[in-house]
Amino acid sequence: MNDEQVASHMATYRLAALPGDGTGREVMREALRVLSVFEENSPLSFEIKEIPCGGQYYLETGEEWPAGSFEYCRDESDAILLGAIGWPDARLPNGDMAGGQTILGLRSGLELYANVRPVRLYPGVTHKVHGIHKQVWDPDLVDIIMIRENTEGLYHSLLRRMEQRALGKKDEPIVIEEFPGLDGEVAWDPRPISRSGSERVIRFAFDYAKVRQRKSGKPQSVTCVDKSNVTRGCQLFRKIFREFAESNQDVPVKEAYIDAFTMWLVRNPEDLDIVVLPNMFGDIATDLASVLQGGMGMSASANMGPRHMLFEPVHGSAPKHAGKNIVNPIAMIQSVQMMFEALGFRKKDETLDICAEILQNAIRQHFEEGAPVTYDLGGTASTSDVGEAIAERCERMLKARFS
Ligand code: IPM
Ligand code: MN
Repeated sequence: MNDEQVASHMATYRLAALPGDGTGREVMREALRVLSVFEENSPLSFEIKEIPCGGQYYLETGEEWPAGSFEYCRDESDAILLGAIGWPDARLPNGDMAGGQTILGLRSGLELYANVRPVRLYPGVTHKVHGIHKQVWDPDLVDIIMIRENTEGLYHSLLRRMEQRALGKKDEPIVIEEFPGLDGEVAWDPRPISRSGSERVIRFAFDYAKVRQRKSGKPQSVTCVDKSNVTRGCQLFRKIFREFAESNQDVPVKEAYIDAFTMWLVRNPEDLDIVVLPNMFGDIATDLASVLQGGMGMSASANMGPRHMLFEPVHGSAPKHAGKNIVNPIAMIQSVQMMFEALGFRKKDETLDICAEILQNAIRQHFEEGAPVTYDLGGTASTSDVGEAIAERCERMLKARFS
């Protein structure tokens, strides 16, 4: 495509924006600010439907989101943006988290099986391993893509209950089993790991490695993280990983148990490229990994399925910071960047590719140039200060590129 074709291209993308709870609402505001700058200054256009949802909405209305929201996300959106879900004491009658229908119902109901969580340290950002703002590493040492299985494992029963709710169906009956040797009240969560569920996420990881290798010119290893010395589900996961390793000899592979991996991750992050993990291990390890990139305020993610995609910061709703305009909006804005990239790839839209690059450069330059940052990175800027600064930077870059 030449410049003229790029400029005349006029796709409209339909986005569902789910701000959710607490600071999720504040960071979503900044994501929408950035999106509006792209609308005004590039050939891109968006039709954005904002859908209220979450635990707070549940406490106010008795519903986790308005009727028809799941169907809108499923049938009428090209991509979904989510702020954060979860509010203290917001519980459904059965004890499950209120608002879970939004995040978990969508992950399960839209088969968003690969939760892609990049861990990258920007030049100028300080990591958090020593809990202070002074330690700077060579940013090249931290550049990992963690891929969390997102539809089964220890989350399986909760995911399915939330999917049932999202579809307006009743919970499936819970099967009670006996646990020999345990007396009294017992609560338990099954952790099924299936061949098909493992194959699709492991295939995704190998494909991701190949694309990244092609783009960067550097070999990209895939590391399998599990607890296959102990659990059967992980033994199946590891067995399938080895099958893929066997049939993808051009991709270097590594293996680790989750306990040792947590140490390895913090001590030698430079060893890791792509990492694939079962659901709950991925949940835990990605919060840990965020300290390598400056904290949870920097961790973005994509939830990818065969036909749908949802983008969200890895952090939660941070109730204690809510309403203060102080949290870091970068994780959310970086999630928009991931959306441009993934939509561009799927829709083969070069304008989106260009916009993904512009937003990426704007974020990187913001840190490289030492522009104002929020408290978590040692600064005093507000959520909206950072959002405005990124939006203005994008505007300048877009004007230079498209007008
Ligand atoms: C995450 C969150 C969610 C999860 C919660 C909000 C259900 O912690 O996206 O990592 O456990 O998956
Ligand atoms: Mn989590």
